[in-house]
Amino acid sequence: MEKVSEYIQEHKDRFIHELIELLKIPSISADSKYKGDVLAAAEAVRKTLESAGADNTELCETEGFPVVYGEKIIDASKPTILVYGHYDVQPADPLELWDSPPFEPIIKDDKIYARGACDDKGQMYMHVKAFELMMNTKQLPCNVKFIIEGEEEVGSENLEAFIQSNKEKLKADIILISDTSMLSMEHPSITTGLKGLSYLEVEVTGPNRDLHSGVYGGAVANPINILCEMIASLKDENNRITIPGFYDNILEASTEERALMSKTPFNLEDYKGKLGIEEVHGKKGYTTIERKGIRPTLDVNGIWGGYIGEGAKTVLPSKASAKISMRLVPNQSDEEITQKFKNHFESIAPKSVKVEVKPHHGGEPYVMPIDIPEYKAASEAIVKAFGKEPVPVRAGGSIPIVALFEQVLGLKSILLGFGLDSDAIHSPNEHYGIENFLKGIETISYFYESYSNSYD
Ligand code: BES
Ligand code: MN
Ligand code: MN
Repeated sequence: MEKVSEYIQEHKDRFIHELIELLKIPSISADSKYKGDVLAAAEAVRKTLESAGADNTELCETEGFPVVYGEKIIDASKPTILVYGHYDVQPADPLELWDSPPFEPIIKDDKIYARGACDDKGQMYMHVKAFELMMNTKQLPCNVKFIIEGEEEVGSENLEAFIQSNKEKLKADIILISDTSMLSMEHPSITTGLKGLSYLEVEVTGPNRDLHSGVYGGAVANPINILCEMIASLKDENNRITIPGFYDNILEASTEERALMSKTPFNLEDYKGKLGIEEVHGKKGYTTIERKGIRPTLDVNGIWGGYIGEGAKTVLPSKASAKISMRLVPNQSDEEITQKFKNHFESIAPKSVKVEVKPHHGGEPYVMPIDIPEYKAASEAIVKAFGKEPVPVRAGGSIPIVALFEQVLGLKSILLGFGLDSDAIHSPNEHYGIENFLKGIETISYFYESYSNSYD
């Protein structure tokens, strides 16, 4: 494996240049205006796989955006790594908060700034380049298959059907994903858990039309006021979520696991400083690392209603709405939690309003044990690239398809992410460190080797 860092040194400028070209395509899956661009990104990814040396590259049709497939089968008796990633990105708004346009990538302070730089084009592209490296240096030790999807940021709703009907094609021994973050370059980590998700929208309706807030105010329920009271009541004074049965079935982390988590290198002052907050917030009795990783949460993602234009308009609105997400931990089921939320939210609504709860997408949580050979292989690869033992960390984010990979294909996923929490994914000025990108390519290359060795 001598040639790994040499190859990266020699080709890094080209790698970065190619990634920049991919980042120029605004592949926003949520917004139908960008449909052509999402398709263009799929084709661009297919081409990069093909030129890296993959066989049978294709765009597999789904009900939504296509899944990009490619493979290299060197020997059927060798193990197979299935790489998953996504080529779609989040919407870029609010545009005015970007220091440079989101789809005109620039390099500043050794970081690439663009929507998707880290989530997930930059991280996905590390796999394409690690594969190219293994091919060109003639050291690919196992089979590899790629599925790169275009609907992750909108809930991967068509991917389940795709994996259900392509079990044979996707036959593999392990799934490898870079779509999460690590603690820092000094403290590399491996993600050992993802949260599940229940996402829904609520609408509160009061009077049948907007009213004069003086003529009717105080005598007729204001849906915004009511919605705020209802949302506020979803947590008690200790930030415990009040939905009946919400905490049922939760697999509590053991005392040993919590003791191990308490050793995670994490600087709270630094964390607060970087976010410009005086104090953190969360469920009583848990540390910030625990709140992020092992506790379920409930957050309002957006809330609207009434008059929000310039100046003042005295109005008692007819309707108010909010988008609410709950992040789930093992063994909470998203369907059950969605139902419990709906029952509870409808039951707490006063008679003066009507409430509608509309579920959006969901997903189950995922955990990975750290005593399996695949984890050890990932750990070895990190030690080789970073010179340091990685720390296992549970993430607060969700990649719903990972639980389905386990249910449908019976495969564990290794979450080998190289982003940082400060990379501003989903926010303005998203970026990805060039060092992270190159170290990622190096680590992935080593993983091929350590994984194949562990398999013998
Ligand atoms: N890559 C993220 C998930 C992530 C980020 C996991 C950082 C761990 C650390 C993914 O693209 C994402 O944004 N997922 C969504 C869920 C989806 C259903 C929209 C999320 O977590 O909100
Ligand atoms: Mn992602
Ligand atoms: Mn994302």
